[in-house]
Amino acid sequence: MFTKQTIRDIDLEGKTVLLRADYNVPIVQGKITDDYRIKQSLPTIQFLLAKNVKLIICSHLGRPDGKPNPSMSLFPVAKRLQKLLEKEVEFVPDCVGERVAKAAKSLKPGQILLLENVRFHPEEEANDEAFAKELASLADVFVQDGFGVVHHPAVSVTELPKYLPAVAGLLLEKEVDTITNVMENPKRPLMAVIGGAKIADKLEILNRFIDIADFVAVGGAMANTFLAAQGINVGASIYDKEDLALAKEIIAKAEAKAKGGPFVFALPRDGVVASKIDKTAPTRIVDWSAHVVADIENYPKRPPLVSSKVEAHEMILDIGPFSASFIAGGMQLAGTVVWNGAVGVTETQGLDDPIGPTAHGTETILEAMIGEFGNRPYSLVGGGDTVGYVESRNMVGSFDHVSTGGGASMELMSGRKLPGVEALLNKNDVQ
Ligand code: 3PG
Repeated sequence: MFTKQTIRDIDLEGKTVLLRADYNVPIVQGKITDDYRIKQSLPTIQFLLAKNVKLIICSHLGRPDGKPNPSMSLFPVAKRLQKLLEKEVEFVPDCVGERVAKAAKSLKPGQILLLENVRFHPEEEANDEAFAKELASLADVFVQDGFGVVHHPAVSVTELPKYLPAVAGLLLEKEVDTITNVMENPKRPLMAVIGGAKIADKLEILNRFIDIADFVAVGGAMANTFLAAQGINVGASIYDKEDLALAKEIIAKAEAKAKGGPFVFALPRDGVVASKIDKTAPTRIVDWSAHVVADIENYPKRPPLVSSKVEAHEMILDIGPFSASFIAGGMQLAGTVVWNGAVGVTETQGLDDPIGPTAHGTETILEAMIGEFGNRPYSLVGGGDTVGYVESRNMVGSFDHVSTGGGASMELMSGRKLPGVEALLNKNDVQ
């Protein structure tokens, strides 16, 4: 249960509201290529407008290092927001200063003003007090709805709540409630599929899922580190030499848990390899399971199907068909599946292959999660590049929850407190 006050708990009628959104969206040559985060902010905006508030919205976009950078301007977001809301959205090319104060003062109830990227000022990430006070002076109430940023202290995350009554927007509430509920009270069996580049980036979430889940499957470049740690030749694949000991520790922890009762820790047993990341590069399947299963009791031994060796010039770029089917099979029994991170390189789509030669593992997981093979578990997609893939396949609506947060959703899943949420008024606080 969400323990913080939300926009439903506070008197907003006619007030000036400063809303922090996460409009950190991909922009290519001035065009927004994915507006999922903007769309997800609409229910809060519509709720606020129905209360006749004068609405000022702030956000960051990218990492401009405290300097104005036209390629990270929020201007295209103002245009997209205007289109989605079918309502004028005024834009000011700064977030503090005289021009901003004037624009804020002249707002009428029901009008919207979007401020320029707060990270164009170094003060935002330096938690600068004067900058916080100046931003706070624009409004009567602060609403935090930028779930994607609440894991990092900054003026628009942890400082504004010191100067204004601060409550959560509807997206923030939904994200925190949904993810917390899945982690604390999942419909079992609970399965997690964790992909991505580096073990170190996913260490906490991996450990948490080994603790609480019934089935944990690993893919992506970080799986290569686990394979190398088991003595499997990974050729020219990306892997973290410095994390081999860590990988061994995680495998040992998973094996210890499996000894105590039903638990599966699935590392890839086969992979799709190629000599370069290119949609035209020939791929082949390598099956190293003979090496892995030799050590595992009760696992049916079988001869390698294709080849058991990744050549020195080859990279493992996807999980193979056996591994993908094994994960999809697990999903036929699962009550809940949490997915964080692609299990292969998904940027290899071509005109004649919308999935791409090294994205079939990721695609199989997507299809199994949304019930294409029978069972339809509760499905949570935990942010970052995974959302990009789901969006590129036009499948967001097929999942129960697709998080707008990358780092924030991972920290929440890992059981960490989010400073931007902690800073908000508690349900029983007096405003
Ligand atoms: C995100 O994209 O995860 C959020 O917008 C946070 O961005 P940051 O990692 O640059 O703080």
